[in-house]
Amino acid sequence: MKLTRRDLIWILPSTATAGFFGWFALRAYNIQLRKAGVGVPQWKEGPRLEVARVSALAHPWDFRYFKYPVKIGATTQQLEAVLVRVPQPQVGGLTVGEAHFLALSRICTHQGCTVRYVPDPEVGSIAYNYRSDHPFLGCPCHFGAYDPLQAGKAVYGPPRYPLPRLRLAEEAGMLYVTGYETPLRPAEGG
Ligand code: FES
Repeated sequence: MKLTRRDLIWILPSTATAGFFGWFALRAYNIQLRKAGVGVPQWKEGPRLEVARVSALAHPWDFRYFKYPVKIGATTQQLEAVLVRVPQPQVGGLTVGEAHFLALSRICTHQGCTVRYVPDPEVGSIAYNYRSDHPFLGCPCHFGAYDPLQAGKAVYGPPRYPLPRLRLAEEAGMLYVTGYETPLRPAEGG
């Protein structure tokens, strides 16, 4: 069939419009839905690092940033991480009496930027375009978001995989990190 100039006048815009909506639907699907679940972690043994006293995180949503040494290939790197007191027990977290804790890597599993703890979800909804009724972790590079109440699951934006967890232990009122989840995304791939 031979296409006339008149045919092209409607075929080209229609194709472009269909392509745009297809791209838009795929992007929306990736941002909102295509997220990996969070299961029971596989731990890799690491040094025992003192992070905080249990009493220092006295209330739910109190947090503390820290660095944890991890061996990536032949080098040891200081992993940026965060310890959060969460209101509910988390898979891969630690419960001490009535208090629940979760330690997460702060390295975004999308492209490796350092995520920030966002204590105020109202501010977070403006800064990250992600609505939540509780604090979350936000990535300033491409506005990814991770949920501490789903053990660090990626819940918004480009990241697909959760933030790796760090293994916690408690002794005499002190919280320690003793290892980390493998694979340690994004450094270890997987
Ligand atoms: S590096 Fe974090 S969203 Fe892209």
